[in-house]
Amino acid sequence: MQLLEEEGVRYRTFPAIKIGLLAADTRAKGTGSILVEWALEYVAIELASAVGIRFMTVDALYDPDEEPPYDASGFYKKFGFQFVNSDETVSRTAPYRTMYFDLKPLIDLSIE
Ligand SMILES: CC(C)(COP(=O)(O)OP(=O)(O)OC[C@H]1O[C@@H](n2cnc3c(N)ncnc32)[C@H](O)[C@@H]1OP(=O)(O)O)[C@@H](O)C(=O)NCCC(=O)NCCS
Repeated sequence: MQLLEEEGVRYRTFPAIKIGLLAADTRAKGTGSILVEWALEYVAIELASAVGIRFMTVDALYDPDEEPPYDASGFYKKFGFQFVNSDETVSRTAPYRTMYFDLKPLIDLSIE
């Protein structure tokens, strides 16, 4: 992950938990945010101390068949998620880009 590489961290794997499937009814505006905020807090406060999680990841959907293409990454960027590989191009066989959120600041807050 770029951020960690810039800080001189050279591990090849990182302890992470992944958002598998997320969908919110557009009639209930704000539901997606409530779900992501809940997940970030739950993992940072309840799980990280027990199982050593540092990152939340998600494969942000990109659908080139829609016009304009549908891109879920903008939603996750609002929370501070970043692309694992910012140069990654989206292929038709894997129409998503993987993003990560560093939970450490939240974890640190929860143990203060
Ligand atoms: C992505 C999804 C979960 C977001 O849920 P939502 O309830 O619509 O999101 P919210 O209403 O909480 O939106 C929060 C903010 O994100 C923005 N946003 C939502 N989707 C966005 C997108 N694709 N790109 C950029 N911004 C987006 C909203 O405009 C809103 O901005 P604001 O705070 O400035 O008003 C929902 O649109 C959905 O189910 N999409 C289809 C399935 C999908 O893409 N799931 C994610 C797969 S990785």
